[in-house]
Amino acid sequence: MKKPPPKPELDPKSDPGIDLTIDRTLELPMYLQICQRFKTAIEQGHLHAGDRVPAVRALATELNLARGTVEMAYRILTDEGYLQVRGAAGTVVSPHLPQPAVHKPQATVPSHSISAALDHDGRAPKPLQLGLPALDAFPRKVWNRIVGHRLRSSEPMRLGYPHPAGYDQLRERIATYLGVSRGVVCLPEQVFVTTGLRNTLELTLSSLSIVGNEFWFEDPGYILARPFLQNAAVKLVPVPVDEHGLIVEEGKRLSPYAKFALVTPSHQSPLGVTLSLERRMALLDWASNAGSWIIEDDYDSEFRYQGRPLPALKSLDRNDRVIYAGTFSKVMFPGLRLAYVVAPLSAVARFQAVSSNLNAGSPYLFQASVADFMAEGHFSRHLKKMRMLYAERRAITQRVFQQELGDRIRINLQPGGMHMLAQLADDENDVLLDERARAVGLAMHPLSRWYIDAKPRQGLLMGFANVTDEREAMRLAKKLKEVFG
Ligand SMILES: Cc1ncc(COP(=O)(O)O)c(C=O)c1O
Repeated sequence: MKKPPPKPELDPKSDPGIDLTIDRTLELPMYLQICQRFKTAIEQGHLHAGDRVPAVRALATELNLARGTVEMAYRILTDEGYLQVRGAAGTVVSPHLPQPAVHKPQATVPSHSISAALDHDGRAPKPLQLGLPALDAFPRKVWNRIVGHRLRSSEPMRLGYPHPAGYDQLRERIATYLGVSRGVVCLPEQVFVTTGLRNTLELTLSSLSIVGNEFWFEDPGYILARPFLQNAAVKLVPVPVDEHGLIVEEGKRLSPYAKFALVTPSHQSPLGVTLSLERRMALLDWASNAGSWIIEDDYDSEFRYQGRPLPALKSLDRNDRVIYAGTFSKVMFPGLRLAYVVAPLSAVARFQAVSSNLNAGSPYLFQASVADFMAEGHFSRHLKKMRMLYAERRAITQRVFQQELGDRIRINLQPGGMHMLAQLADDENDVLLDERARAVGLAMHPLSRWYIDAKPRQGLLMGFANVTDEREAMRLAKKLKEVFG
């Protein structure tokens, strides 16, 4: 029988997990540093039983050490049972290693993070998960064709660094779309492509903020933006929300000269209410008088089921105070990680300077493909279809859940968005219910967690875009019923 060929020798340079560099400033002798490095690589799983390690001479040359130093390290590692000398076959990691003492770092999002709580963890979507568009209804064939075409036809220059502010054709498409659909008149130069809302906030704050600036934040408000902003050297000022949206007068009372206000005027996150025209005007007045910036997070405004989509707050902005934030996460799919921000005209130069310092841009291939998807009319067709589909799924979900759960929940439909709120009685505990719902596979989210200072209301937030039909709605509603007991 033919002997299997020996394993190739480990190359520490090609494995990012293996660090054999020697620190000559340390008091620890160099042969012991080598021992330590090998043990760490083995314990962390970068080196496995049977892997060949470099020959003494090769490693000595690589690390610029005397051969004797490496020999000494290998002898100790062999004595301790980490390495095994196999004569002509070289030295290998021992096949009889003890169980690793240190475990590999977790590849998933830590379970205590808010992203994980919203199921942003790279795993399959779960029933009723928030913030997801209908993944079954995205025109994947068309998309695959478009991406494939861009991939096949990309010129060598496209392999270089992309423009940090975004691919020019996509910036143009976004500017046109915003003008036509959202009433936002802007130049392509004002549009900066980002990887999502948090990247948009990072770019905005780095361009316009100084440490300690006060920042109005809706209470309750978008739960994923909160920890980001709390880490971003701004002082969050929670401003309560009622059925007309952010209470601007309260904001003025709590922090009259705040530098920023982050708002979701079209479909308040999470309550779903719309910011009234009166409040819109009051907010714009305040920003103009106080010299403040309003960040309009217009994340899912495209989906409106009663009347026409409302124009964006930005469309009423006569004094260049609104920074408009949009995303492709809802209108296409969140795995794209493409979003955008429209900088105020007066701040374009600052955004430009900061965007090139902050990151090296988003991948060309997807930006170009989205530009094609828009140019060929698929984007508006898809939106139109989704508006109809979501209207159906929303109605079915509300009806079936309300019927099945009776007076345990109350779902008052809001005119837009992709999620609904099942309100609970004040003496219910939404966190507890949510935990139990998760145990039976439902991925809703407890409303009370979205509050900061305001008195929390009890409720369950449910994404309805992936509730495919009445049977599925019934199956899920029955599960929730079990949870209520
Ligand atoms: C309130 C709010 N803003 C923005 C976003 C979009 O975030 P991103 O563009 O990072 O996917 C979401 C997504 O769920 C959201 O709920």
